[in-house]
Amino acid sequence: MNLCVVFMFSLLLWNEGCHMKKIPRIAVVGGGIGGTSASYFLRELFGPHGAFIDLYEANKIGGRLSVVEVDGRDYEMGGSVIHPQNKYMVDFLKLLGLKKRQTRYSRCGLYNGHEFVFTESDWEIITLAKLAWRYGYSIIKLQNYIGDMLKKFERIYTLQANGKSFSSVSDLLKAMSPQFVDDMHVSTKDGFRENGFSERIVDELVLATLRANYGQSATVHKFVGSVSVAGADGGLWAVHGGNIIVPQMLLERSQATLINARVTNITLRPETEDFLVNSVQGKGFTSSLYDMIIIATPLTENTQASIRFLNFPKSFTFPGVYHKTVSTIVHGKLNVTYFGFENEKEAVDEILTVKQDLVFNSVGRLNPVDYTPNEGVFDVWKVFSQRPLTKVELNDLFLQQKDVHVVDWLAYPHYHSEQRTDEFILHKHLFYINAIEWAASAMEMSVVGAKNVALLSYKTWTGISEAKETGNRKEEL
Ligand SMILES: Cc1cc2nc3c(=O)[nH]c(=O)nc-3n(C[C@H](O)[C@H](O)[C@H](O)COP(=O)(O)OP(=O)(O)OC[C@H]3O[C@@H](n4cnc5c(N)ncnc54)[C@H](O)[C@@H]3O)c2cc1C
Ligand SMILES: *[C@@H]1O[C@H](CO)[C@@H](O)[C@H](O)[C@H]1NC(C)=O
Ligand SMILES: *[C@@H]1O[C@H](CO)[C@@H](O)[C@H](O)[C@H]1NC(C)=O
Repeated sequence: MNLCVVFMFSLLLWNEGCHMKKIPRIAVVGGGIGGTSASYFLRELFGPHGAFIDLYEANKIGGRLSVVEVDGRDYEMGGSVIHPQNKYMVDFLKLLGLKKRQTRYSRCGLYNGHEFVFTESDWEIITLAKLAWRYGYSIIKLQNYIGDMLKKFERIYTLQANGKSFSSVSDLLKAMSPQFVDDMHVSTKDGFRENGFSERIVDELVLATLRANYGQSATVHKFVGSVSVAGADGGLWAVHGGNIIVPQMLLERSQATLINARVTNITLRPETEDFLVNSVQGKGFTSSLYDMIIIATPLTENTQASIRFLNFPKSFTFPGVYHKTVSTIVHGKLNVTYFGFENEKEAVDEILTVKQDLVFNSVGRLNPVDYTPNEGVFDVWKVFSQRPLTKVELNDLFLQQKDVHVVDWLAYPHYHSEQRTDEFILHKHLFYINAIEWAASAMEMSVVGAKNVALLSYKTWTGISEAKETGNRKEEL
């Protein structure tokens, strides 16, 4: 380019800045399902030429969605199953032309460290009878309770479709149901007891889901406790080819520029009301200016984001820690005698636990991400535990181990039921998606948070206020 062209080009840009609304430069920090869906929603709102979006990812697109290769096939290592009523994930599946993974019939059992207190039968009718026998009326009550909760949760989809956004997690929950906010301040154990559920169903079924889904116990707040129980519903699904395909394709759709670098500090420039973002990539440093920033990674003390916020009028605090869950994928045979089964045929495929302080939280047989029916069983198992398993422990649990993969996650918040104030807006034009994880951590929750933050940023940028928006809606009605 010769000098003259450069001059004309900058004049053009300058003119554009002068006569038209400025095109915002937006940085999204984190390329998991949260950051990539936020980029997608931003593109949808701002239009194909209405925003410059840079997405920073320190490691790999997908974040806590990832696969591991065992014996030539890929298996889910992180976030695995999706609820059938998770509307955004279902929508993405269609939008991206993906398919649900085929499932194989499998049986589940509840293990207390000595024996199974409950096992599913090959016959659904017998399973139902066994459930009714052990838990009585509470089992129907639990089903109704979860159905009611999901119905309330679905209100968020209408609210967000109408452009409604929320500055805090409790405001977002309140819009679905004020009950949800109360649920955040009572433990699962107390809350379920107050609702008249039997001690046994809480100590067994509810605890088993909490140990498998969140590696925790019924001391977690009742909202996440309820989400966890919903995660034991029928019809759970996953993406054929791997859940990680969703963030990968959303990034593509968003036409955001991927910057493979770790953001180290975000500095506010008060005069210009924009931000300087520093990042490192190997030995190189970069810095760029942005008008808006969306943080799409957890920021608590023990998570690895370690971003410094400089020059802001107040300092930010992110109380709480993330819970450690270790996934161990074993290619081998389950030691069925360990669990008191006579033979492999008799053994269950999914072992959930109903006792604290067991070595493992759950053990389950896996199918590859591209599983097709009639493929038979795979000798691949996933163990969730609080700490890495020792060689001795693994040798007890599995026979003929051919391959072992371990990922030590800071997986989800370590929940309690004390009051918290989690905000989506950290500062004008600085947003934080993962605040929502303190209500409950799940793929769909990150997408709900991403949509909320995309709406917030679009509205503050364009100056569309909530009031105006409600006015419009009233006119439409
Ligand atoms: C073992 C396990 C099992 C789970 N099971 C389920 C399940 O069955 N169903 C379900 O719905 N959910 C499940 N979850 C939860 C679900 O995986 C998460 O809620 C979801 O994937 C979070 O997505 P995210 O984009 O918000 O965060 P992440 O996926 O954590 O993405 C954040 C990204 O930001 C990047 N990053 C961090 N710091 C920086 C920085 N400074 N600069 C640049 N990039 C940075 C990280 O590398 C990461 O890729 C599970 C989670 C785990 C760990
Ligand atoms: C911002 O981050 C870079 C890279 O990590 C670092 O070298 C620099 O000192 C930081 N800047 C400030 C003002 O702290
Ligand atoms: C299997 O489990 C049983 C019961 O815990 C144990 O005695 C045995 O050592 C384990 N391993 C093998 C190889 O059988």
